[in-house]
Amino acid sequence: MEIIHLSAECYPVAKAGGLGDVVGALPKYQTKMGHYAKVVMPMYHTKFLNTHEWDVDFKGSTNVNGWWFDFTVIKEKHNTLGFDLFLIDINGLLDRDSIYGYTDDTQRFCGFQIAFLNWLNHWQHKPDIIHCHDYHVGLIPFMIKYCYEYNRLNDIPTVLTIHNAQYQGWMGWNQSNFIPPFDSWKSGLLEWEDDINPLASAVKNAWKVTTVSQSYLEELRYNSNGLEALFEYEKGKCTGILNGIDDDVWNPETDKYLETNYTADDVEEGKQAAKGMLCKEFNLDAEKPLIIFIGRLVGEKAADLLPDAITSAMYTMQGNVNFLILGSGEPHVEWQLQQLINTFPGNYNSMIGYSEALSHLMYSGSDFLLMPSRVEPCGLNQMYAMKYGTVPMVRATGGLIDTVTDMGDAGGWGIRFLQASIGDIVHATGRAVGLFYDDKEALAGMRKHMMQIDNSWENSVHQYISVYQSLK
Ligand code: ADP
Ligand code: GLC
Repeated sequence: MEIIHLSAECYPVAKAGGLGDVVGALPKYQTKMGHYAKVVMPMYHTKFLNTHEWDVDFKGSTNVNGWWFDFTVIKEKHNTLGFDLFLIDINGLLDRDSIYGYTDDTQRFCGFQIAFLNWLNHWQHKPDIIHCHDYHVGLIPFMIKYCYEYNRLNDIPTVLTIHNAQYQGWMGWNQSNFIPPFDSWKSGLLEWEDDINPLASAVKNAWKVTTVSQSYLEELRYNSNGLEALFEYEKGKCTGILNGIDDDVWNPETDKYLETNYTADDVEEGKQAAKGMLCKEFNLDAEKPLIIFIGRLVGEKAADLLPDAITSAMYTMQGNVNFLILGSGEPHVEWQLQQLINTFPGNYNSMIGYSEALSHLMYSGSDFLLMPSRVEPCGLNQMYAMKYGTVPMVRATGGLIDTVTDMGDAGGWGIRFLQASIGDIVHATGRAVGLFYDDKEALAGMRKHMMQIDNSWENSVHQYISVYQSLK
């Protein structure tokens, strides 16, 4: 099958979170299984752009309700990622340093979607599937069906994968001029609660909808930032498919960011080496249990609870625990997390920012990974942690339910708690600290067990292919 993935992110071209990881891996594994998967994304000014070679594939121009723009589609020359990668350049609109966060993001992503469909209109053949990821490309299923200009494409099946329903791309109707002329009788299919809602529109118009875990799919029907009734109504076309992890990037045996690679057989030595480096760099004590948090410092991840929870845990455990944080996000949370460095020197540290290299060292050199998320559609961090022999401490929600069991249950290996609250985080920390000091054998057993869990992409790819095939 020929599958086109449309996304705002794709690792290593441009990544802000798990969406990038998934779009960098899924097409590669689909290609390995004999399909022809391509990724089309906006051309940002990233390092990847400047360090790779490109061919110009297409040049076009378009006029949308008086908004004229030219665009260029470039293709990476050497198939470096294991699939064909196309970037769309719209001068001044997409070629920016960051992926998101601009006041004209609505126009940017509308322009991207329009340019893509204009390009597709010029193809001699049609792809088998257009696979849209998240709201940034959520207007595609509607535009293909109801924009007059793209009539020729309206029999191409579209699939939407929801990585995160918190963000929906709301646009006022005064921005409807960013959408090419369409059958106005269908405008209800763009809308949710009086706004144009690209995510809701994609759920209504895509032929099939998937989300990145089964538990999150169920949760959407009672907790989806206003779209609950829509998910209840459309449940028949929705499927939950758990993400996998890309073994080429996330594998302690081959990880290029680690000085000492390791497997389940020498996990203790391997982790000790990484922990030593980490503790030296961040002024921590390698003899104490090290709990890490990596991620966006936002409400969904319950990052706002971290400063107080860490303070409380530190006093409760009488300093017999270390914390290390890597992330960026809400400024007041960043500030509070920086302040704690002075409050608990030698026991706590944080790096505010983004570092792929440090994240690999942290998954490897820590004992526990904390994820108290309020919302977690799948979560990749816990899967990476397990692969590196690090015990996840997770709030039982979304994909965290589907990937982590509790060590108190037969055959269990992680620490689960029910509430995104300071009390639950401190209690979970107590269990982690107890395990570390009092039951080294159980901890070692868990590490070996977790490292052998199969969270590879192969299984998920089969499920995606079945979804596509059901549309033929
Ligand atoms: P989300 O996509 O909601 O942010 P996921 O758990 O799916 O959450 O994926 C997060 C991804 O982003 C992981 O690859 C994680 O290692 C990475 N990540 C998040 N924050 C940072 C950071 N500050 N530095 C490096 N990597 C980060
Ligand atoms: C989103 C979700 C995260 C998921 C990722 C990849 O960003 O917040 O839980 O793992 O997408 O699907």
